[in-house]
Amino acid sequence: MLAEWFKHLTTPCPEPFKAMGYLKELISLEARHRRCRDAWSPHLKECRQLIEKAAGGIAHQKVTVLGSGLLYDIPLEFLAGTFDDVVLVDIVHLPAVQRRVRAFANVQLATNDLTGVAEATWAHVRQGRTGPLPAPPQDHVTDTGPCGDSDLVISANLLTQLPLIPMGLLQQKGPVYFDDAAKAFARDIIDSHLQFLAALPGRVCLLTETERVIFGAPNGDEMIEEIDPLFGATIPASGRKWIWNIAPRPEINPYIDLRFRMTGIMDLNNG
Ligand SMILES: C[S@@+](CC[C@H](N)C(=O)[O-])C[C@H]1O[C@@H](n2cnc3c(N)ncnc32)[C@H](O)[C@@H]1O
Repeated sequence: MLAEWFKHLTTPCPEPFKAMGYLKELISLEARHRRCRDAWSPHLKECRQLIEKAAGGIAHQKVTVLGSGLLYDIPLEFLAGTFDDVVLVDIVHLPAVQRRVRAFANVQLATNDLTGVAEATWAHVRQGRTGPLPAPPQDHVTDTGPCGDSDLVISANLLTQLPLIPMGLLQQKGPVYFDDAAKAFARDIIDSHLQFLAALPGRVCLLTETERVIFGAPNGDEMIEEIDPLFGATIPASGRKWIWNIAPRPEINPYIDLRFRMTGIMDLNNG
């Protein structure tokens, strides 16, 4: 914990993303990956294999990865060797990722808030506003940025992460919104990302959790709770399914495991 705190203190990150908690989340992800490496390995392999398949049968000028993060689920060497240009988009890029990317002349990093509402939500909360919650701007879906001319766009375990920090801010620091309003806000963010992906001309590969499941209880492996991380949004039922054993005991505590039900869709708009 002390090492994570120190890293947070010393890692450069644009404000207000640092204050909002994006850097902290990424540092925690790195630490959890270190602790749960073996349990995560089958999941990461599924992701990388699906991405490699998604790159087949299309032009190879440009690929854009949304939510590139720490690149755990991304076969970077493969993408850099297959496509002329690789663009990695995230709200924060840790120094370790910046260093790794320097080895590839055709890989660039882009820093972008893919919800379109992060800073507006931060301002809303900081100013103690109580009115309608920020909505993704009109051009959020149409302004496709590097994705517009990409042959392949990969949404890499990002979809359900998008609403978490904005929603957490509202719940912790903001004026009290009814649970339904916060959930509708989260759902809008998810729908907006799905609309964005649906409007892209190139192939879109979607990797996402579709359900969070808590297992545990005295006898070990009973299902205790199912949580919908999509807030009621739906994605096509097609695609490959697997389990991401994201937090096996004792990661959260000695009595429960958290597992994600995963879907990987190779060609979202033609599935
Ligand atoms: C579960 S992690 C997956 C990371 C990455 N695919 C990997 O395996 O290392 C989710 C990623 O989404 C990014 N993210 C969350 N909210 C974002 C936003 N509003 N805009 C851009 N990226 C965001 C996080 O920074 C994080 O890197």
